[in-house]
Parts: sequence; C-alpha cells; structure tokens
Amino acid sequence: MPDTPGAPRTPDRAGCEAEADAAREAVVQAALGRLDLDTKARLLAGQDLWSLPGVAHIGLSSLVMSDGPIGVRGARWSADDTSIALPSPTALAASWDPALARRAGTLLAQEARRKGVHVLLAPTVNLHRSPLGGRHFEAYSEDPYLTGRIGAGYVSGVQSGGVGATVKHFVANDAETERFTVDNLVPDRALRELYLAPFEFIVGAARPWALMTAYNAVNGPTMTEHHRLVNEVLRGEWGFDGVNVSDWLAARSTVGGITGGLDLAMPGPDTVYGEALAAAVRTGEVPEATVDAAVRNVLRLAARVGLLAGAAPVVPASALPAEVDGEALAREIARRSFVLLRNENATLPLRDPAGIALIGAAARDARVLGGGSATVFPPHVVSPLDGLVAQLPAGRVTYAIGADPSDELAPAEKGFALRARCRDAAGEVIGEARLPNGHLQWTDDDLPEGVTPERLHSVEILGTLTPRESGEHPFGTRGAGGLTLTVAGQVVFDGVQPPEEETDAFGAVFGPPVERGTVALTRGETVDVSLRYVLPERTKGPLWGVVFTLVHLEPRRDADELIAEAVAVARAAEAAVVVVATTDRVESEGFDRTDLRLPGRQDDLVRAVAAVNPRTVVVVNSGSPVELPWREEAAAVLVSWFPGQEAGAALADVLLGAEEPGGRLPTTWGGLQDAPVTDVTPKNGELLYDEGVFIGYRAWDKAGASPSYPFGHGLGYTSWAYESLEVEGTSVTVGVRNTGARPGREVVQVYLAPAAAESVPPRPARWLAGFAGVTAAPGETARVTIDLPARAFEVWDEEGGRWRRVTGRYEVRAGRSIEDIRLGAPVTV
Ligand code: BGC
Repeated sequence: MPDTPGAPRTPDRAGCEAEADAAREAVVQAALGRLDLDTKARLLAGQDLWSLPGVAHIGLSSLVMSDGPIGVRGARWSADDTSIALPSPTALAASWDPALARRAGTLLAQEARRKGVHVLLAPTVNLHRSPLGGRHFEAYSEDPYLTGRIGAGYVSGVQSGGVGATVKHFVANDAETERFTVDNLVPDRALRELYLAPFEFIVGAARPWALMTAYNAVNGPTMTEHHRLVNEVLRGEWGFDGVNVSDWLAARSTVGGITGGLDLAMPGPDTVYGEALAAAVRTGEVPEATVDAAVRNVLRLAARVGLLAGAAPVVPASALPAEVDGEALAREIARRSFVLLRNENATLPLRDPAGIALIGAAARDARVLGGGSATVFPPHVVSPLDGLVAQLPAGRVTYAIGADPSDELAPAEKGFALRARCRDAAGEVIGEARLPNGHLQWTDDDLPEGVTPERLHSVEILGTLTPRESGEHPFGTRGAGGLTLTVAGQVVFDGVQPPEEETDAFGAVFGPPVERGTVALTRGETVDVSLRYVLPERTKGPLWGVVFTLVHLEPRRDADELIAEAVAVARAAEAAVVVVATTDRVESEGFDRTDLRLPGRQDDLVRAVAAVNPRTVVVVNSGSPVELPWREEAAAVLVSWFPGQEAGAALADVLLGAEEPGGRLPTTWGGLQDAPVTDVTPKNGELLYDEGVFIGYRAWDKAGASPSYPFGHGLGYTSWAYESLEVEGTSVTVGVRNTGARPGREVVQVYLAPAAAESVPPRPARWLAGFAGVTAAPGETARVTIDLPARAFEVWDEEGGRWRRVTGRYEVRAGRSIEDIRLGAPVTV
C-alpha cells in the first residue's frame, strides 16, 4: 500500500483560498492606511527578543516567534518551561516520509499554540554540503529534492495548525565558521540547482508565511540586503508573499535592508529599523512605499495567524487539527528514522534475549538533541537504559559506562536539586525561582516575580547534590562575571571570569565551561552546592540577559579500566548493545566540526566489545555522520541520530523487534578524507563553492569513490523483491513484493541517469528524481506510481539565466539506495 499523501488541493479549495486571501488583503490594506510612519518603522524593528509590538488602534496584537525546529521553545528560554523534543531534522529526513514530516509540523503547531507562539522559526533547509557543518544535524539532507519534500511536509503541517513556518536560512548558510561575515561564492548553477532549490520547492508547494535571511553574504551582498535573491528571485520569480525576517542580529543596514527586501530586523527594539528607518524616509533615502511593502507583509502574516482584528485567520479555531499525542509521535518518528546500516546474520531484532550488556555513557544519559538555538527542554528523557529495562523482564540488562564521549563538564543535572535566589546590591533577597538544572538563562521577561534588571545585582544557584558515584567530582562554571562556587562547605572558586572576545553572541552563551576544581564525595551522601554570580555592568543592547551555568562531571575513571569493565559484562551476556555518541558540544550551532571521529575512547570500546561478543550491536547516537572504523567488526550498526525525548523507548521497540527501523540515509556516510567538501574555513572572508553542483553523492560518483554507506541505504526487518517497473511519459510505476516473514515498509527510490553523450553541461551521473513509501504484508505486492518532476530533467543555464530542459535519453532506475538499484528502464524526453 502506498503512503497516503496530504489532502489534495482541489480546484474548489484553491478557489476558496483565493477568496479568503483577497478578503484578508483588504483588511491588511485598510490597517496599513491607518498607520503613521513612526509606528510602521517601529513595527518592523521588533519589540524584544522574540516579539513584535502590538498596535492597538488598528487591532494588531503582538506577534511572538520562537525556535524550532525539533520543538517549540517558547518566548522563555528556560529549562522549567518544557517542550516536546522530537528527533533531529536529520532523523526526520531519514524517514523519507513527507506525510510524517507534516504530522511533526502539526504537533509543533499545537505546541506553539500552547506556548502562545504564532510563528515557528523552522525548518532549516540548508544543505549538507560538508559533514563538518556544525548545524548539519539541524538540516535535512545533501539532496535538494529530498530536503524540499521533507521541508514542504513540515511547513504544511505547521501551517495547518494556524502557525506560521519560517524557512531558513536563505541561503547557502551551510557552515558556521565566520558565519556573520563570510561571503559564500556560489556559482549560479549550483545556487539554483542545489542551494535555492529546496526554498523554491517549498515556496511553491507549501506557501510558507515566513522566511529567514541568513547571516552570510552570497556572491557579494549580505543576505539581509540581497535585492537580487530576495526581491527578484524569491518574491519576483517564485511569488513568495510572506515575511522576510533577518536571522537574529543579522540586519546591519537600514537602507540596504529595506531596499534589499528585508521586512523585519530582529531581535528588537534597537535594530537598524525603528527610528533610523523613519529618518531614512524623511531624508528621502527610502521611499515610504518601500516601508509600506514591508509592513504589508508583516500585517498579512499577522492576519494569517489571527492577530489582526477583522481578518479571518487562515485556520479558524473550528478547523484546527485533532490533538496530537506528542510522546507517541516523538517515539514513532524516532523508530521510523533509525537507519540499520548493517545486520549480519540477522542479529537484530534481539528476540527475547536472556541477557543484554548495555554499554556507553549515552546509554544511561541519552544525547537527544544538538546544541544552539535548536535546543529545547523536554519534560523527560527516556534513555536507552530506561527503555530496555521497561520492556524486558527484570535482571536481563547489565549496564557499564565503557567510555564517555565527553570529558567536558556539563550543566549540573543528575542527582542535583537546585533553585535560583536573586539579591539586590545590599544583599537583600528579592526573588526566587525553580531551576531544573544548572543552566540559568533569563532575559528581562524571565526574571522571577518582583525582580527587575535595574535592581538585580547577584543570582545564586543553590541546592544539593546526591552523588551517583563515589570519587573526585569535578565542578566548574560557565559565563562571564563574578563567581563564587562552594561545594560541601568548601570554596572551590572565588573570582571574576572576563567576557570572551567573541563575535558570535552564541559563543558567549554556549561557550566552553571552565573546570574550577574537584571535591571528594561519596555515593548517596547529600551535600550542599552553591554558585553565586554577580552580574557584570548592565550593557545596553538587544540581548540583555543573565546567563551562567553550574557545571559538573561524574568522577573521572581510568579509561582502560572502564573498557575492561565493559568487556567483562559483554563477555557474560548473550548480546551486547554499545551506544556511542557525539555531544551537543561536538554538534552545535556557532562552530563547525574539525573531524568526524567519535569523541573519547569510544572506537576502542566498540572494538574491544565486538572482539568478545559476536552479537555486538552498535547504536550510533549522533545527529550527523561520524566515522565508523570498526563497522566490519560489529554484527549490527544502527544509527539513532539525536532521537528526541522518547529515545530509549523507540530504541527498545526496534532492538527487541516490536517495530522495524524505518530510516534510509538522507546523506552519504563516509570517512572525512574522502568527503567531497572538507574545508569550511573561509579565506580572506570568502568561501568558495567551487565544486559547483557536485556535493554529496553527486561528488562521490564523480570521484568514483565508495563511501562507507551510500545515500538512501537502510535495512529493515523484512526483504523486498523489485518485480516491475513501467514508465509512461514521466510517470514511473514500481511493483515491490515483501518476500520476508513480517510486514514492512519500503522506501522505493527512483534515480535518473542521463545518457553520457548528452550530459552537457557536465551533470552528475545520477540524481534522486522521486521516492515513495509503501507498506506490505508478507508475500504481498505493493505498486506505487511516482511522477518525476519536470525539474529533474532541467539544468540552470548560466548564460541565459533560465532553466533549460535537457532533452534526450535517460535511464530511470528504481532501487533500495543509490547503490542498490534493482530495476531500470529507458525514458526519452
Ligand atoms: C539562528 C537562527 C535562530 C535565531 C533565533 C540564530 O542564531 O541562526 O536559526 O532562529 O538565532 O534563535
């Protein structure tokens, strides 16, 4: 049975939509006519970190935005304001299922409504140009078509819940190094065929209500001032009618921004818009009509989400989607995303195992999400240990740490009970707040009842720690200011941490922790802990906040000893499951990776365990590709990505066979030395995209190199025979039969390969042109028809500045991955 697509847009529905759009537009126009220049300029400047000002006399309420993409953080960035955390975007893309992405979007809209958020700052649809990209985990794929399909599903889901989606970061924000200033020099053809393509597809297929322009420049102009790409391409050619919001702090010029099509400069209110924009109109530098166009876009967005009096929201309350069970959906997406790379001798699923040795720091403390603005605070996290223990009879799981991916201190959490206490300069307590972990991050709006930025002088994180292990516990701090750290009555540190010289505001917030000393503690014996923080001078600026962290690490153990301990438990068990991981300090916004190795001694750990247990399953808990030098030594390898809050529950479902792993690689996995793009550091402020259209599998093909695991690869628990392939025009019908013993889901992938002689200009050897999921019972055949999009047959003609259909012969290939092609047929266009 083919997957069901989203609701079709019938002519009737399109007609109703056009009528509703026109009615909304009339209200927008009338509201615009009642605004004076200063109010318009102020509206475009933003109100604070996440919102726009309301304007009472035109019935405009304040509009709130929030990150995105795996959960909705809400206007408060605080661990006591929890959000459902879905698997990483790489995981969602690994489902190869736009309908599932749509369901994720519907849940996120529900979360947004719960948190008073009107616009979600997601999805990220930049491409996996290099595996080193720090935000790789936050984007979908190396392939523009797969990215576009998943992104369009996500956007349509979010907006079906009456919440705006913001496609970001427009465009070519594919790495983090010097991200505020880098000029990415991207040849036009690569820009069109790769980097702009997902944006174009999503604008056409899902009509996003917002888009975020990136920090970087492209071929000269910075993206928040890119008249050509914003006004001419995005709005002119593609017909985008949503709001263009700057990435946070990306807007740098009043005139450049407004004439370059930037509607909103965020965060407010001290941006290049506001007073400066009104002044530019008054001096004649900017026509008022240009400001009006931006305000019209903002009012249209407000109208769509129901914040402009008199205008009917796109989704009235009566048409909101049915309530989604967030936990259940997080678990379903996780198992649908897990990619089984290798499964020798049908090691997985483990059927009713007598004993499992579960190994790895991340098996106990799951790594569920990547770092940076994508961070949310889930209400709970099911670790692999929790998940397996819950689904197996007592006593079947033995746990050992084996190796820790991080020897860096992390926000105090396990075993801690903490709160925050605020004092004024005289030392008088002026407020208190609950604190779920050691990271404190408040803006003006988050301050506890009765506390104002003016009066606040110091904040103390205080409470207790009941250690999980005996030994020397390292403690430390993160953040700039006066810090006094006391543990069990001992003053561990008392001094001032100067601010980092950082160009990236993110670095200051998520920068490295500093270890301040160790304290000997005994398992189970509770001690008092306090970190007192004296705020630095209040500086004026859009990002005022109190940000500091009490960090901690379990006692360090000898690495060889830990491995030996793991080997001993693995030897005694029927099967070993080793969870290896990166951390949110390896994969994060704000910096790029320097290598693809698993941190710490994890590679040694896997080898040692696999050597003593022939049924060793390695679970790779990372958001982006890592090198797997031991992959031929392990019986099974399963990629779980950053699996979101239900990580362990989904993992137990899949390991024990209640569900099959449903994912297929959305990006080629291989060693860094063979990766197509291995340098993301700009030279003299410029980063050359001189590989042109050859990234990802397009580049591996060109080089004739074999990756560890190809694009599209992923095994399930049943087997499939590709029985038929029929081509009619550019429609391809594929018949596949489930030849295994259990029901399953197959992702039928269709690639297009041009006949060599006609490959001018140089084109990739083959590319993804379509895909569809099918489910079938044992012995059953499923047929699915896939329409190849016109764009699959086109190239961007750089000289003519237009798309050109390349006529001639192609081969259509259907299969299980780009390398595992089962059937082929010629097609001529
Ligand atoms: C990120 C955006 C994010 C914004 C607001 C920026 O640093 O690049 O993706 O939406 O911050 O948090």
